[in-house]
Amino acid sequence: MKRARPATVSEGWEKAGSPLDIARIRQDFPILRQRVHGKPLVYLDNAATSQKPQCVIDAVRRYYEAENSNIHRGIHYLSERATAEYEETRAKVQRFLNASDSREIVFVRGTTEGINLVTQSYGRKFVKAGDEILITAMEHHSNIVPWQILCEQAGARLRVIPMNHDGELLLEEYERLLGGRTKLVAVAHVSNALGTVNPVKQIVELAHRRGVPVLLDGAQAAPHMAVDVQALDCDFYTFSGHKLFGPTGIGVLYGKAPHLEAMPPYQAGGDMISLVTFEKTHYNVLPYKFEAGTPHIAGGIGLGAAVDYVTGIGLEAIAAYERELLAYATQALSAIRGLKVIGTAKEKAAVLSFVLEGVHPHDIGTILDREGVAIRAGHHCAMPVMQRFGVPATARASFAFYNTKEEVDVLVRGVHKVLKVFR
Ligand code: ALA
Repeated sequence: MKRARPATVSEGWEKAGSPLDIARIRQDFPILRQRVHGKPLVYLDNAATSQKPQCVIDAVRRYYEAENSNIHRGIHYLSERATAEYEETRAKVQRFLNASDSREIVFVRGTTEGINLVTQSYGRKFVKAGDEILITAMEHHSNIVPWQILCEQAGARLRVIPMNHDGELLLEEYERLLGGRTKLVAVAHVSNALGTVNPVKQIVELAHRRGVPVLLDGAQAAPHMAVDVQALDCDFYTFSGHKLFGPTGIGVLYGKAPHLEAMPPYQAGGDMISLVTFEKTHYNVLPYKFEAGTPHIAGGIGLGAAVDYVTGIGLEAIAAYERELLAYATQALSAIRGLKVIGTAKEKAAVLSFVLEGVHPHDIGTILDREGVAIRAGHHCAMPVMQRFGVPATARASFAFYNTKEEVDVLVRGVHKVLKVFR
């Protein structure tokens, strides 16, 4: 279907730099048309959550208007239709991640629950007193706290792979930490606070040489680059639907089938069983063993639409476009006197954290908001990262493929306004 071309976004750089027609893509996101404080919305908080294209909104509405019913249970028309659509999302996610089997795709609430599932199921069964779990210095709290809890429960030890001042992991330290006691390595594919893209394939290889499984937190990677779990050879990979232009409350945990088979259920209830008596319960087959209770059906269906949408644009094209946008933004912001970018790794994705001499990041966020620019200011659920860089917080602009160079220019002008207020 041919879509009307909007007049609001100038063509040129976006088209010259990539095969994506950003002006056209923006038409798919109704929220981007609104004004905030009288200014056009410039949404640069995509690492917190991304906006939803009309097809996702329509898929959720269609489910509630025409298909609403419980799944895996009914023998009636609506239930069968909803079940088919929900399960179709599983097949779409399998292809999206290039998993070899749809049994390896477990629906969860989001990345946080994906990690908690692994800690409390795999971890409780296999991690024992004296064992070690390796994480990195740049993890989100979601990839720290669940492991801390597991370590307390099991009497295990949490060890941290350090990073340099650019926000790159010290791989020689990683190799040194990997030892006979290491039971699992858990690493962010992309750092939410710094934007670093970690060398996860190499990280997995090094761990596997010692027979150690690896979990990758893909929350900030899956929306920005093609992910192939077979090529990465990771044991677990988890991401959130709402950062991938889908609904909140739905996410994915990929796990290699032999691991999932060996793991006990995470939660218990309906759907995760095959037979229940008061004496004993037999668990359902994968992936349902891990999906107790009525799931977020509308969310799952919406996620399916989101996966179709980004796949239609193409993750390679998205990555290439965002790389250019990030380079443009980094150059423009770095030119501002007193501004320091936090996170200067060679390999980065879609995240630009910065501090401004003499100005608290919350003040930057508040003044930018008056300009219609939405960024996040704070510790980004990564307090140890702030401690590592000696800052209480950062201002963070985070991009998606619908952002433009013109929006970066608005951000830069906004930062100059901040400076005028404070200097
Ligand atoms: N983890 C999300 C962020 O980085 C919420 O903003």
